[in-house]
Amino acid sequence: MPAATAEAGTDYAARFSQLDAWLHQHQALWRAKPFTTPQLPWEADWPELATWLRGRTLEQAEAAHNQPQLLDAPEPFASLARRSIELTELPQWHDADSFSVPGRPLGLSSACSTTSKSHVVELLSRHIPGRKWQQITRFAACVRLGWQEPTQHWLDWCAGKGHLGRLLAWQGGQPLTCLERDAALNRQGAELGRQLGVASQHLDADVLEAYAWQQLQPEHSIVALHACGQLHMTLLQQAVAQGCAQLAVSPCCYNRIDSAEYRPLSSIARAGQLRLTRDDLGLPLQESITAGQRVRRLRDQSMAWRLAFDIWQRQARGIDRYLPTPSRPQSALGQGIAHFCRDLAAHHQLQLREPDSWEQLEEQGWQRLAQVRNLELLPGLFRRPLEVWLLLDRALYLEQMGYQVRLGQFCEYQLTPRNLLLVAERCSAQTAPTL
Ligand SMILES: C[S@@+](CC[C@H](N)C(=O)[O-])C[C@H]1O[C@@H](n2cnc3c(N)ncnc32)[C@H](O)[C@@H]1O
Repeated sequence: MPAATAEAGTDYAARFSQLDAWLHQHQALWRAKPFTTPQLPWEADWPELATWLRGRTLEQAEAAHNQPQLLDAPEPFASLARRSIELTELPQWHDADSFSVPGRPLGLSSACSTTSKSHVVELLSRHIPGRKWQQITRFAACVRLGWQEPTQHWLDWCAGKGHLGRLLAWQGGQPLTCLERDAALNRQGAELGRQLGVASQHLDADVLEAYAWQQLQPEHSIVALHACGQLHMTLLQQAVAQGCAQLAVSPCCYNRIDSAEYRPLSSIARAGQLRLTRDDLGLPLQESITAGQRVRRLRDQSMAWRLAFDIWQRQARGIDRYLPTPSRPQSALGQGIAHFCRDLAAHHQLQLREPDSWEQLEEQGWQRLAQVRNLELLPGLFRRPLEVWLLLDRALYLEQMGYQVRLGQFCEYQLTPRNLLLVAERCSAQTAPTL
């Protein structure tokens, strides 16, 4: 591991405490929910910003959604945006390498000796959509930047068909164990491994159960690409318990945890100021990068109609309170706004006086959607900081438990917004954990 890493340990604790204080100080801004609260408490403090955001179109909101930090909006937006960028800076490891499929020279494996390189690449990338394949090759390239010791045995955690583990095992010639709950994926993964001559075993395993943890061994180098909240948190805890040598984890779906309150892993985060709910953990996931235009249009329509229902029910009931709206199949949009709203009213067992004009109500719903989306750009500034806070909690936990840790971005944000990577290696002269 490069010398810079020793400093990075201290940096992570310092960065964490800055982020913790900043997120805590501004929680009224990022916890505010424009969708359910027509007038937000912060608007009284920042009227110029509120008016500016409310005056913009839905298209403008959409254009700024994924990078709200770049928006030239009135204060305090601009200052918060600058701070958001400063606090979330992480190395871009994806600039550091080329992403052709680097690997051992063909011919090392008897299964590959007669195959052309393009056939090998085809076998490695078979069944993988283009974007996923790019994520996998970038992840595989970055793993090597963080570890000093040679890898002995790969373990792919929540492996799916084990594409990532198979690429790494094929490149390095080490054996591979995949843990995956879905037996059909395991069978397909085993077949792909056989065709490539990779020594892989694909075990049907629920990684939240203790029997699966027995598979973890000290010599394992564990990779986990986009394992959801509880799945990767369990991995970190069990890998530490088994003293696994190396880890490379890219988390996703932080809110998929088994408790209503977030329980930090590190003692530093536990001693911090911020207390998070499962709902808060959804904030970092609110990007729309991967949705296509048609999907976005349908999502917008559904949201505009829900907001129209909200306007209607508040007026008709004379009660200024949000009523949750249940999810409805896409086909519900085909029956028109009147049917859609009446159905939501029936869900709440309400018989409401019908609006004078459904068209006008729909128009109001779309206007409100534009305002909601623009007001949401403010919490959007805290999306990445909250994600980095969560990543740092994981990093600090591993450091505490005797690992050297590096954090970076393994691919471009456009490829997947979940592009953060934690790479850790057990220190050879281990000190006793202090949790
Ligand atoms: C988002 S996919 C990631 C798959 C793979 N790592 C990749 O990036 O292509 C998550 C995988 O976790 C598996 N999974 C979900 N819960 C699991 C559990 N409790 N135990 C084992 N695997 C699980 C799912 O079946 C799925 O294949």
